[in-house]
Amino acid sequence: MTLSRHIRKLIFTGLIALGIGLAHAQTRTEYLLDKNWKFSKGNHPEAVYTDYNDKSWQTVTVPHDWAITGPFDGNNDSQKVQIVQNGEKEATLKTGRTGGLPFIGKGWYRNTFEAPTFKKGRKATLLIDGAMSDPVVYLNGKEVGHWAYGYNSFSIDLTDQMKEGKNTLAIGLENKPEASRWYPGAGLYRNIHLIITEDTSIPVWGTYITTPVINKNFAKVNVKTKVAGNLENLRLQTSVKNARGETVATATKNLEETDGNEFEQELVVRNPALWSPETPELYTAESKLYSGNELKDEYTTRFGIRTIKFEPEKGFSLNGEYRKFKGVCNHHDLGPLGAAVNEAALRRQLVLLKDMGVDAIRTSHNMPAPELVKLCDEMGFMMMVESFDEWKAPKVTNGYSHLFDDWAEKDLINMIHANRNSPSVVMWSIGNEVPDQGTKEGGKILKFLQDICHREDPTRPVTAGMDRLQNALDNNFAAVLDIPGFNYKPKHYEMAYGRLPQGMILGSETASTVSSRGVYKFPAEPQKHKMYDDNQSSSYDLEYCNWSQIPDDEFVKQDDLPYVIGEFVWTGFDYLGEPTPYDEKWPSHSSYFGIIDLAGIPKDRYYLYRSHWNTSKPTLHIVPHWTFPGREGKVTPVFVYTNYPSAELFINGKSQGRQEKNKSSNTERYRLMWKDAVYQPGEIKVVAYDADGKAAAEETVRTAGKPHHIILETDRQTLVADGKDLAYITAGIVDANGNLCPDADQDLSFSVSGNGIYKVAANGDATNLQMFHLPVMRAFKGKLVVTVQSTEKPGNMTLKVSGKGLKPAKIEIGTAAK
Ligand code: GAL
Repeated sequence: MTLSRHIRKLIFTGLIALGIGLAHAQTRTEYLLDKNWKFSKGNHPEAVYTDYNDKSWQTVTVPHDWAITGPFDGNNDSQKVQIVQNGEKEATLKTGRTGGLPFIGKGWYRNTFEAPTFKKGRKATLLIDGAMSDPVVYLNGKEVGHWAYGYNSFSIDLTDQMKEGKNTLAIGLENKPEASRWYPGAGLYRNIHLIITEDTSIPVWGTYITTPVINKNFAKVNVKTKVAGNLENLRLQTSVKNARGETVATATKNLEETDGNEFEQELVVRNPALWSPETPELYTAESKLYSGNELKDEYTTRFGIRTIKFEPEKGFSLNGEYRKFKGVCNHHDLGPLGAAVNEAALRRQLVLLKDMGVDAIRTSHNMPAPELVKLCDEMGFMMMVESFDEWKAPKVTNGYSHLFDDWAEKDLINMIHANRNSPSVVMWSIGNEVPDQGTKEGGKILKFLQDICHREDPTRPVTAGMDRLQNALDNNFAAVLDIPGFNYKPKHYEMAYGRLPQGMILGSETASTVSSRGVYKFPAEPQKHKMYDDNQSSSYDLEYCNWSQIPDDEFVKQDDLPYVIGEFVWTGFDYLGEPTPYDEKWPSHSSYFGIIDLAGIPKDRYYLYRSHWNTSKPTLHIVPHWTFPGREGKVTPVFVYTNYPSAELFINGKSQGRQEKNKSSNTERYRLMWKDAVYQPGEIKVVAYDADGKAAAEETVRTAGKPHHIILETDRQTLVADGKDLAYITAGIVDANGNLCPDADQDLSFSVSGNGIYKVAANGDATNLQMFHLPVMRAFKGKLVVTVQSTEKPGNMTLKVSGKGLKPAKIEIGTAAK
C-alpha cells in the first residue's frame, strides 16, 4: 500500500550539516497519517487483525467526520429532556439539539503504513489530536491505547508493537446517544501523527517554557525539558530564535547537574519583542539532546514573551496595559465541514473575527484543536482554553459525568501540557455551567481541578463559567476560583462583586442574542424566546432567550464597571445543534446565536460589535435591507451600527433627522435608531458625522428589482496546492443593477474544473436540510457560500455557479506549490 505520510520534520545529524557524507541517522521524523484510511460505520471488532479484508470499506482522508454527509433527520439523537439551566419546567422532545446528523454508533478506521525511519531499538509514538469518541487503538492486532473523552489529545507509545516495514493501525470509536448538548462530530476528526525518535529522546509535550521576568531590557526564559530513555551522559543545548530565525540566546546543560529526568535552563533574551493580539511576536526554542557527542534528538517549541496580570480592582493587563476581553465563545465544528478540523477554515473564522475587533476566544466547552491554538498564537487572539461541560452532576444522560472520576485529572493534564507554551492561552477554564455549583461536593471538585491547573501551570489563572449565581455565591464556589466567570449575569455584576474577594468579574459567556441573517420581523421590539412560523429570528438584534440578553445590555456593564474584565459572547459563529428557540421545532438543527452565520456570512450583529470593538476602522452599517414589497407606508425601523457619534437618515432623498448616541437607553447608547421610519421603495442613505459634526462617511441601500444574475466574491485568490487549502466564495443573487435580492432563494448549482474540487456549500439557514457536500443548494436571503479545495497539483481551478433564470457566474482561483 502506498506510504501514507507527510514528513514535517526530517532532521539529520551534525555530520550531514557539516557536509561529511557519512551514513547518517535521522533523529526525529514526524509522519502525518492523513491519507489512505479505510472507514466503515458499524461494529467490526475483527478489523483489528492485520489480515482483515477492508477492501469494501470507504477510502477517506483524516481529519474525517463520518456524520457530516448526513442525511439530516430529526430522529437522530432526539432527546427528551428538561434543560434545567434554561429554566425549563418539564421534559420535552428536542429534535435538532445535536444537529440531526447520524453520528451515533460505532465506526472503525484502518490504516496500513510504513515508517522507513523506524528500526528496532528506536521509539514510535502516536499522537492523536482528538477522536470522537472513546477511541480504542490497535497496532498489528494488539490494543495499544485508549482515551475516553473525544476532545482531548493523547499519545500512545507504539514501540513494542511496531514493526520495521508495514504496520496496520485500527481504531474503533463509539458515540453514545444523549451524550452531548450540541453536534460533537464523529470519528477521526482531528490529525494523527506518528513520531519516530531515538529511544533516548524528548517525549510528547516534553518542554515547558515560562518567562518569569520580563522588562523592557530583557526577559528571562525558563525552559524545562523532559527526557526519556537512557539517561546517562546526556547534555541539552537550547537555542532561542526570534521570528527572523536569528539566535538570541543559548544554554547548555548536563543532566547530571539536575535531578531526575528533567533539564532546567534559564536563558536571557535582550530587548524582547512582546506578544499581544496587536503584535503576535513569537520565539522558538530549539532543543538538541546529546549523549556524549551523539545527537539524539532535536525538538522545537514555539513560545511567546508576554506578561499577564489579573489584579483586584484594576483588572486584567497584558504587558502592563489594562484591557478588557473582547471575546467570543465558539464551538469546534466548522459548519458545513462538520467537526473535521481544517486550518484554512479556522483561519477564515479568525480573519472575520479579527476584523470585528475580537481579541479573545473561549473554546467552549472543550479543549481546542492544536491548529486553532497555533493560529491564535500567530494571528493574535487570547484564549480561554476550556475543559469540561460536566463534572459529576450530569446535564445529559451519557455525558462526561460518567468519566469524571477516572479521567478528569488525566484530561486536565493533557490539555495543559499540550497548550501551556502558547502565549495566546491566558487562562484555563475548568468547567461550564456545571450543575455541581449547587451541590455540597461542588466546591471540593472545584478545588481539586483548580489545584491540578496550578500544579501543572502556575503561570495562568483558572476560571469557570457559572450560571447558578446565588448557589455559587452562597456556598463560596465563586469565591474559590481565581477568576469568577459569570454567564449571562450583567444585572448582578455589582452585587456579585460586593460579595466576592477577587475584586474582579469576568463575563465568561454573554448575550446569546438570536437572529437569522437577512430576516426582519415587525414590529422591531425586544422579544424574549420569540418563535415565528418560519423558524427564523429577527435580525433587528432585539431577540434573546429566557436567560440571555441583547449585546447592548452587556456593553453597558462592561463599559461602566471598571472591575468587569471583559466578555465572551455566545457565539462568534453559528454551530451545528442547539437551535434555540426552536429546540423542539424540526427542521431547525443549527444555532441562531452566532454573530456570523453557519456559512460564515456576518449577520447584522457583526457590525454592532465591530462598531464598538474595532476602534481602528470605521463601521457604518444599515439595518434592514430595503426590499419589502407589501410594506409600503408601514413603519419599518432603520438602525445604524456605527462608531461615528451621529448620523442622518434619508429615505428617497428626504431627511428623517439626525440621531446621536445617547444614554437614555441601552440600545440608544450603542445604536442609532429611526424607529418610526416608513417604508417606501427606493433608497435609504445614511450620512455619518464625526465628532466635529462634519460629514465623514455615507452608505446607501436600494430596493432590489427582479433576480437577474449571480455575483461571486472569494476570500482568497491563491491557495496552497496541498489538497487541504480552501477558498470560500460568497455567491449573491442580484438584480440587473447589482442590488442584492434579499428574498432570492432559488437553488444554485456548482461545478469546479481544473486543479481543485468542490468541497461544500452552506447558506446559513438553520432549517435547511440540503446536504453540504452536494453541489446544489438554495440561496438564503440572496446568498450562500461555496467552499472549494485545492488538489496537490498546482494550477488554476474555475468555479461555476448557476441558477434557473439567472445569468451564471464563474471565478478562477489559483493554487501554487507550497
Ligand atoms: C449557556 C451554555 C451554552 C449554550 C448557551 C445558549 O447556558 O453555557 O453552552 O447552551 O447557554 O444560550
